[in-house]
Amino acid sequence: MKAVVDQDLCISCGACIDVCPEVFDWNDEEKAHAIVNEVPEGQEDQAKEAAEGCPTEAIKIS
Ligand code: F3S
Repeated sequence: MKAVVDQDLCISCGACIDVCPEVFDWNDEEKAHAIVNEVPEGQEDQAKEAAEGCPTEAIKIS
């Protein structure tokens, strides 16, 4: 499973980092990005929850 943050849509609300810090963190532009290529085993539900909770639907899970 992969998670990608659309940098144009992220408004830096931080919800994804609160929900799933194993996958998401701030980048130099103070937007969220995925810090792993693959969502680690056991983090899938949190990654999905982060995507569903993003107010701008910036996170795509595939
Ligand atoms: Fe950005 Fe959405 Fe996360 S706005 S900080 S990708 S919850």
